[in-house]
Order: sequence, then structure tokens, then C-alpha cells
Amino acid sequence: MANLNKVKIMPDTLEPVDTRNAMPLDEDGQFELSLRPTRLAEYIGQRRAADNLKIFIRAALNRREALDHVLLTGPPGLGKTTLANIVANEMGAVLHSTAGPIIEKSGDLAAQLTALQTGDVLFIDEIHRLNPAIEEVLYPAMEDYQLDLMIGQGPAAKSIKLDLPKFTLVGATTRAGLITAPLRGRFGIVFNLDFYNHEDLTTIILRSADIVGAIIEEDGAKEIARRARGTPRIANRLLRRVRDYAEVDYDGRITIDVAKDALNRMEVDTFGLDETDRKLLLSIIEKFGGGPVGLGTISASIHEEKDSIEEIIEPYLIQIGFLNRTPRGRMVTTHAYQHFGINPPSASAFVPPPSLF
Ligand code: ADE
Repeated sequence: MANLNKVKIMPDTLEPVDTRNAMPLDEDGQFELSLRPTRLAEYIGQRRAADNLKIFIRAALNRREALDHVLLTGPPGLGKTTLANIVANEMGAVLHSTAGPIIEKSGDLAAQLTALQTGDVLFIDEIHRLNPAIEEVLYPAMEDYQLDLMIGQGPAAKSIKLDLPKFTLVGATTRAGLITAPLRGRFGIVFNLDFYNHEDLTTIILRSADIVGAIIEEDGAKEIARRARGTPRIANRLLRRVRDYAEVDYDGRITIDVAKDALNRMEVDTFGLDETDRKLLLSIIEKFGGGPVGLGTISASIHEEKDSIEEIIEPYLIQIGFLNRTPRGRMVTTHAYQHFGINPPSASAFVPPPSLF
């Protein structure tokens, strides 16, 4: 057990660590990046997280301390990366970004940690995908700002302890349930981000349109918001596409009618469901009598990875009450049947099994 927290550093593993920021972005990615708020005052929605964060940041600044470590959980596109950026900006600190799957060796993480200056923010996206041995390196780093290093191998191996500067770790995950208890316990601040309501999404769309100079009416923004799956990233992507239709087929102004026409033509329906959502729900309805059906069976049936079904597709369908996860599998609800204009099976099919009462 004594060696658990030790990092093996071979001289050739000390090269700089690749970061997510170094990845090239496509046009939608660039657009999205230019719209991200950089300060808390510009941040819309997620009031519980934003208001509490404001207090914790102010208190840390007053005490001239690093902010406590922050864990952000929630479905993709809700602003976890944006909040990490905002934390660094508000603290007047430098942000270092990386992600669980790209930290392959303990030495990669050690290189990131030793590059930090006092007060800096280290953002680890998809932190649930850190390899367990590497996760162990984080424990003393988070708790005592210490790094245990093993230099070399075999009898000549030497163990040294390094003091790290006081830093803030911001971890983000789409899978809160996969964070181990020891890791979760080391975060002093934990926020679970929720899907945005239509009002906040409308404000975000109007703000984005203003930044990029798109002409939009409030009702046009509301229509896009209604179909954006509660997700700012999707709202901004839809805004960009609707603007294309407005400029090519109309006079450039995004009215409610233009938004409806564009979104219908993109096959984004009135609940924001896209082709993949429909494929999932209709496959459960048509092939499995509405469920219950297991995740593996759904995955094989619609040719989607189990992880993306669980992390990306299902959370919104559950949130809008179209899908239930039960111990016996996934079940489509009567609301979903109604949405597709299909008669649900007889009510008895929806009575939960006795074990659930
Ligand atoms: N753009 C994307 N997410 C946002 C948010 N939460 N507030 C303001 N603008 C945003």
C-alpha cells in the first residue's frame, strides 16, 4: 500500500503534456468558443452553481487562498468547461486544461502538476476516465499539495516527495456515478449542472445573436430555445444553422416563422428530438413493445455506443419524461407514444412489477 501514491517518472516521460486546447476546432467549435462567457457576471442560468461559486471565489480571494477543488457533473454541453474557465478568470489565475483519457501515464499528470504556479487552476475533463493508478497520484496532490515521485526503476530507484503550489483542481464529468468515493470526497465544492430552462436558453441565444451580429426576434429565439434539448451548445449550433436559412431563403431576419421552417427542415422536432432520439424511442416502441429492454439490446438495435446512449441521448429523454430507467430495463412512457401519435399498449403493460412497489 505504501507505494500507491508514488509516481514513476522516467526521464523520457517529462515531455510537455498534450492539452485539449491544442486540438484544432471546426467552424462550429470556433463559433461556440467565441460565445462562451468569460466572467460570472455574463454567465446565464445554473443559478445555484453560479451564485454559490461567486461567494466561494470572493471568500478565497479575500483570504488570498486558492479556491477549494471543484467537481462539476452533468450532461455534455451544459457549461462545465466554461465554468472552469470562469473560475480561473475570476481568481486571476492561469487555466491548464487536460482530460482523463489523455493522461496515459502517472508521469503525464506529474508534468501537469509540477507546471502549476500558486493559485493556478488545473481542469481535468472526463475525470471519471482517469486510470485508477493515476487517480491515486491526485489524492495527496489535492489534499496536501504533495507529489510522491519514484525516480528510476529497480534497486537504484529513489523516492522523493515534491511540494506542489497551492492550486485548484476543477474536475468535470458526464458520469457522476463513475467517480470513486475517495476522489469525490476530496472535492470541497460539488455542483451538479441541470438542463437549462427555455427562458435562460432564450437569453443565451439573444446574447449569442448580439455577439455575432445575427438579426433575431425574441419569438425566433424562443422557438430555437424550445428545441435545443436544454443545452446551450445545441442552442448556439441551431442559431448558426437557422441564421443560414434566414440569410439564404429569407431576408436575414430570424422570426418565429423562419425559425420554425428552418428547424422543421433540419428535422429537429418541437421537443428538440433529433433523428437519433427518434430512432431510440421508436426502436423500443416498434421492436420491444415499449420495453423494458436492456441497454445492450438497444445499443445493438440502433447501432449507437452504450456510453453515448447513457451519457448523451438518454439524460434529456428522461428529463422530458419520454423514457424511464427501471431495474428491468428502459421503458418508453405514454408521453412519448403521444408525441409520435402512436397508441400506447394497454395500461397493464405500464404497471410496474410487484418488486417496485
Ligand atoms: N453560452 C453558452 N453557455 C452560456 C451561459 N451559461 N451563459 C451565457 N452564455 C453562454
